[in-house]
Amino acid sequence: MSLDNIADLFEEQLKDVYNAENQLTKALPKMAKKASSPALKKAFESHLAETKVHVERLADVAKSLDIKPSGKVCKAMKGLIEEGAEVIEEDGEEAVIDAALVAAAQRVEHYEISAYGTLAAMAEALGYKSVIKALRQTEKEEYAADKKLTEISEGELLVGAGASSEEE
Ligand SMILES: [Fe+2]
Ligand SMILES: [Fe+2]
Repeated sequence: MSLDNIADLFEEQLKDVYNAENQLTKALPKMAKKASSPALKKAFESHLAETKVHVERLADVAKSLDIKPSGKVCKAMKGLIEEGAEVIEEDGEEAVIDAALVAAAQRVEHYEISAYGTLAAMAEALGYKSVIKALRQTEKEEYAADKKLTEISEGELLVGAGASSEEE
């Protein structure tokens, strides 16, 4: 598609994140299954539920602006999910694998925070008043998901890591 104005760019970015969120609904159940920490498992499961809402919200945004949301592949999300899949293949210490899952998942959340921040800013600039709130709401939920992962990581997964490392 030809990018001639910010409305075109908004549409392109919307399709990108719509595909990214759809990819994520398939990856999160596998990450939840691999997680050993009950808190981490729960965080992935509850973010899966949120992610499904994010997909619906984007579909609503697209519909209200007369945009077809499908038709693009988000290569960045594909790569991020591939990195998560590598962790799923690994064997090792449970807490370390969990920390690796968090590392992969937080890269995803940061990507989404950036995507929604950009989309919302463009929607504001374009005067797409009816969709700004929905985009900002999802952005807020991505921030919260990221924060939750930090809490789990710092609260239980990284605790005592120095004691078991080889460093003196
Ligand atoms: Fe999301
Ligand atoms: Fe997310």
